[in-house]
Amino acid sequence: MQLVAAELVESREILPGQWLQAFHAPALTVGSRAGQFVHIRPGDFSGLILRRPFSFNTVDRTTGVITIHFRAVGRGTAWFTRLRPGDRVDMLGPLGRPFEVDPRSRHLLLIAGGLGIAGVRMLVDDALRAGREVTLLFGAASAVEVYPSNLLPDEVEYVVATDDGSLGHSGYVTDLVPAYEAWADQAFACGPAPMLATLARLAAGRSARLGVARLGPKPGRGAGRSGGAARAALPGSPAARRKSFLQVSMEQNMGCAVGACLGCVVMDTSGVPQRVCREGPVFASDELDWEGGW
Ligand code: FES
Repeated sequence: MQLVAAELVESREILPGQWLQAFHAPALTVGSRAGQFVHIRPGDFSGLILRRPFSFNTVDRTTGVITIHFRAVGRGTAWFTRLRPGDRVDMLGPLGRPFEVDPRSRHLLLIAGGLGIAGVRMLVDDALRAGREVTLLFGAASAVEVYPSNLLPDEVEYVVATDDGSLGHSGYVTDLVPAYEAWADQAFACGPAPMLATLARLAAGRSARLGVARLGPKPGRGAGRSGGAARAALPGSPAARRKSFLQVSMEQNMGCAVGACLGCVVMDTSGVPQRVCREGPVFASDELDWEGGW
């Protein structure tokens, strides 16, 4: 984790009220991974003391430029929209735990709801660079809020759903998932909690629907020198995320973003609070209690 003075390179409104900003911050491109985030302090200290978290939207390690994508919803984010090229902000990162792609996975299904695109956008680039195929399912309320396709690499299959039917599939983005669940080796999602809960329920039933065999040694054969069962991945570990068909990036409000305030917790299936800023924001979907109502 590093604290840097990041210089604004470019700022533009790409959708009504949604901004894409590029910062020169070479130190933060080193070691940053898809799913992680930065914490940025507004430079106006007249009451705007809290840092704001932003996902790494894209990271270019050649130029040292990172981008963030956000909606202007209050004084803090409005302050960011007034930045001009050359202005500097105090940026802390990379923070949080990233997505984990199994080296064997060839087909990645990414699902984004609204601004959730910012949570998975970097994974698009990383996956394509590694020679994987990527399908991105994107959901929005209406056509005017659909992420512009010209901001995506040509190699991505991009499928849109809108709640009002004004573009693409008429309905929720989650309606599109069953058509891809046999093709996909892994799925990665970011968006509103109800969307993620629906996806988690779909993922939980996928193996039974497809008859997917579990990887690993058969009981009693090749299970280690002791003859015991293969060791399960520790909850919260990179291996647990890698083994889960669906990984989700949670969009909880954050205060401190360093694990101190407990303002961002979600509950796991054992009833243990998990801090989105430290144990997340990326979780294996089967580790969280989706009925918890957090
Ligand atoms: S935001 Fe403070 S503990 Fe996560």
